[in-house]
This record gives sequence, C-alpha cells and structure tokens, in this order.
Amino acid sequence: MPPVRIAPSILSADFSKLGEEVRAIDAAGADWIHVDVMDNHFVPNLTIGPMVVKALRPHSQKPFDVHLMVQPADALVEAFAEAGADILSVHPESGPHLHRTLMRIRALGKQAGVVLNPATPLSALDHVMDLIDLVLVMSVNPGFGGQSFIESALPKIEAIRKRIDASGKSIELEVDGGVDAGNAGRLAAAGATMLVAGTASFRGGPDRYAANIAALKAA
Ligand code: DX5
Ligand code: ZN
Repeated sequence: MPPVRIAPSILSADFSKLGEEVRAIDAAGADWIHVDVMDNHFVPNLTIGPMVVKALRPHSQKPFDVHLMVQPADALVEAFAEAGADILSVHPESGPHLHRTLMRIRALGKQAGVVLNPATPLSALDHVMDLIDLVLVMSVNPGFGGQSFIESALPKIEAIRKRIDASGKSIELEVDGGVDAGNAGRLAAAGATMLVAGTASFRGGPDRYAANIAALKAA
C-alpha cells in the first residue's frame, strides 16, 4: 500500500494572510493544496473565486486541487483553469451534463474529478470512468469545514477502490470531510490515496502544521 498523501484544505487557513498560509502548509509537507469553492447556491457558504486562486498560484508549486461546489460549474471551469488550477472536481448534481463538464476540463488540459456527496450513489460514476483522474468521496455534507466524519463513507470508499482497480486506470481516490489522525489509517486501508484535511492540518497555527501533516501520514 503506497503511503497516503495529504491535501490540506485552505478553508481552515487564516484568510487574512492566505499567501503566507499556502507557503507554510506547502513547506510543512502538503502534497496538494485543496481549494474549496462555494457559491451560496449549491452549498450554503461563500468562499474563494478564480481571482484568489490566481493570486495564490505563485505561492506554491504543489498541485492546486480545486473542489467546485458551485451551480452551474461549467461557466467557472475555464476561469479556474486559467487561474492555475491543476485538478478540477465537480459534483454530478451541479449541472445537467456531467460528461460535457468533464470533457471541458480535460480539453483545458486539466485533471478531472467527480465528487460524491454522502447520499450520492456510486452509479454516478458509471459512464464517466474513462474521463476522470480522481474520485472525491465526501465524508461530510459539503459547505463547511470542521464537521464530523460520516462513517458510511468507509464502505463506499472500499466499493470505489474495487471499481477503480477493476477499471485498470490510475484514478486517485480522495476523501474529504472530518478527516483526522483518528480515521486516516482506516481511510487508507479502505483504499483512499489522498486525504483532504482542513481542521486537522491547520489546527494549532503554523508551528503545528508539519506535525499535523506528519501525524496524518503516520496514521
Ligand atoms: C467541505 C469541504 C472540505 C472541508 C474539510 O465542504 O469540501 O474540504 O474544508 O474540512 P475539515 O477537514 O475541517 O472537515
Ligand atoms: Zn473540499
């Protein structure tokens, strides 16, 4: 089993100094930088737009993993790609044409991901496996950091692991929401390859970031 990697969500960073926070979490061992984009429509919160991603881009060479919680997503895909996103993930519920949206992301030369909410069935992946680089399993309902991990994500991760293995493709399996050192080991054992962690990465302030990420990887 390859070691699990960590994508800290900057939703839990200090927004008054985001550039500094991105540099600090990068230096602390972040593998990807997870950017939560919320629109107060698809989810009940409002966060980061393409201009912020563009401003943050010079602060890290790590892949920017942009999680789009917006409806519709299509209109923003290009803007985030231009701003410097490397991976763009969308929820099937956020638009009528998931296939088209994924094609659009790929055509922009970016990696494409599908995000499954806690109640979204695996069948959402049925006809798009050839178009994706990543499956993102939500282990909370999207909209806020700091929520409790939903246990039913675990069997779901195991089932998706089987599907990915059967497909023979190299598709990343990422988990997002309530991830901490207490469940990271079980998530990796279930087949996750990338863990999003907001609270668990940023808690305690910059002096703790390296230890926080190390604890997640060690778990
Ligand atoms: C929730 C976001 C998550 C969230 C994770 O809608 O997609 O990325 O920030 O935060 P924690 O790790 O605090 O649950
Ligand atoms: Zn996220």
